[in-house]
Amino acid sequence: MAATLRTTFAGISMPNPFMLSSAPPTTNCEMVARSFDAGWGGAVLKTMAYNLDLVRNVNPRITAVKTGRSIQGFTNFELGSPKPIDKWLKEAQWLKERFPEHTVFVSLLHTEGLIEEQWREVTRMFNDTGIDGYELNFSCSHGMAEGGGGAQVGGNETSIRMVTSWVREETNKPVMPKLPAMVPDLAGKARAAKSAGADAVAAINTLNSLPGIDLHTFCPYPSVGGNSAFQGLSGRAIKPVALRSVAQIAGGCDLPVSGMGGIYTWQDAAEFILAGAGSLQVCSSVMEYGYSVVAGMKQGLLDYMDEMGFTCIDDFCGKALPHIKAHNSLPRDYKLCAGVDESKCVGCGRCVSSCADSGYSAISLDNKKAKVDAAKCDGCGLCSQICPAGAISMQLR
Ligand SMILES: Cc1cc2nc3c(=O)[nH]c(=O)nc-3n(C[C@H](O)[C@H](O)[C@H](O)COP(=O)(O)O)c2cc1C
Ligand code: SF4
Ligand code: SF4
Repeated sequence: MAATLRTTFAGISMPNPFMLSSAPPTTNCEMVARSFDAGWGGAVLKTMAYNLDLVRNVNPRITAVKTGRSIQGFTNFELGSPKPIDKWLKEAQWLKERFPEHTVFVSLLHTEGLIEEQWREVTRMFNDTGIDGYELNFSCSHGMAEGGGGAQVGGNETSIRMVTSWVREETNKPVMPKLPAMVPDLAGKARAAKSAGADAVAAINTLNSLPGIDLHTFCPYPSVGGNSAFQGLSGRAIKPVALRSVAQIAGGCDLPVSGMGGIYTWQDAAEFILAGAGSLQVCSSVMEYGYSVVAGMKQGLLDYMDEMGFTCIDDFCGKALPHIKAHNSLPRDYKLCAGVDESKCVGCGRCVSSCADSGYSAISLDNKKAKVDAAKCDGCGLCSQICPAGAISMQLR
């Protein structure tokens, strides 16, 4: 049977698992409509706020974190949408009438204290718009988090349960808290959400950070009139944290997970599914390349599924989880030694200094070719990761 990307997530039928995450690519529903035409299966609308005085943005608010010319991630201190909720209501209704088959979540965030009636009222307002579900932003790492919102809520199981239950009591639609990555016992946070009636969880949001500091003015980037603030890191740089988070949640809580954080390619998408994500969300790669990135991701994922004999997302969702063990249960008698393919070695000496200055002094250069002293090699694997020529592989002793 041919593979299909059509899937069901938290009870919602989706044309494919690729959604835009709540961020600049979902600033308004006309844009989201264009993204659906470009092939995205769903979208989480930009987080909206009850009190617009508290979401006044600064200029600039997005910085690229680069190695040379290549972008490793973005930091931002963008706040929630400055658009009033009654405008979002109309836009969301228009979007769902035009795209009934596509998945649309709204994203809610508290802006001033945990005001129960605000959460309940906004939830009720969207109940009749045709949207598919509610993402609860318990994870914004900057701005709102400094005022007790966002990640401050997601870091505390009592707050997670309290706010989730307010929303749960006002709607029959799926409720999906979006959790922060850098908290102790992330799976416990997901279970807290479940105990309050959540249908799914999303992870991860940005990671609190500073992208760099101007060496002459001493102001961190970006300067907003001479000062800056902590920001949220997204993109390629956070993918390992995001994969870990998704796997921890999927391994410790039986709610469906919408995974995100550094998804740029079909291989990234496949890895998130293997780690337990039932749907995928994307922001940074769209900010860098536009909506069209989804075409390659979808085709690549379908080709991979065909190659592996998977007919649907559920066939391989979470398949990596049985391979993630407690560290102390990994075998200690599995012993490796570095081996050099001399035909590939260009004699650069990088492996020599890495091994000498990071532990074991097991490599030397002999006639411009690296030589490993097996008696000294501790099998750490560092040199095989450092070698620019791909000349070193780890071999079973
Ligand atoms: C400029 C910018 C604004 C964002 N705004 C929101 C937001 O309003 N609500 C939210 O839940 N996440 C927001 N995010 C976080 C993204 O939705 C996403 O969780 C994060 O960027 C990781 O995914 P990525 O690596 O694909 O970008 C924002 C991210 C960026 C870069
Ligand atoms: S890093 Fe690689 S190419 Fe350079 S000396 Fe070592 S084995 Fe040879
Ligand atoms: S595997 Fe580690 S100890 Fe062995 S040669 Fe390489 S860097 Fe040195």
